[in-house]
Amino acid sequence: MAIRNIIKKDNPLLRKKSRPVEVFDDRLATLLDDMIQTMYKAEGVGLAAVQVGVLRRVVVIDCGDGLMELINPEIIEREGSQEEVEGCLSLPGESGVTLRPMKVKVKAQNREGKWYFYTGEGLKARAFCHELDHLDGVLYIDRLSPNQNH
Ligand code: NI
Repeated sequence: MAIRNIIKKDNPLLRKKSRPVEVFDDRLATLLDDMIQTMYKAEGVGLAAVQVGVLRRVVVIDCGDGLMELINPEIIEREGSQEEVEGCLSLPGESGVTLRPMKVKVKAQNREGKWYFYTGEGLKARAFCHELDHLDGVLYIDRLSPNQNH
């Protein structure tokens, strides 16, 4: 396992769309293991593969209640709304209030290719939305709420 370099705001890769994972092999497992180590070292609650320079639809999230590995994730249900402060490991030292759903349901594959469903509320819903946005080249600064008074 290795810590990988997290790319920053001015890197054009952050604006690219990531490609689906089709092969569930040792290379994917290594990418996941490295992403997990990199996320914990940076004290983040989530990391997308593009943030370590890999344009594949791979995300890791840990909001403090367990690690999730999400391959080819999709949001299949959204409910309610929330406005909270958000930041990103690729935009260090910055933050802003975003408008997000309060609750989301996500389907994603694990490192063996098996499909699972996940639900997240509050912080976890924000993490799902934030990390899945990365896979389409979208940053939280694209979703800032007009109301920044939090
Ligand atoms: Ni981010």
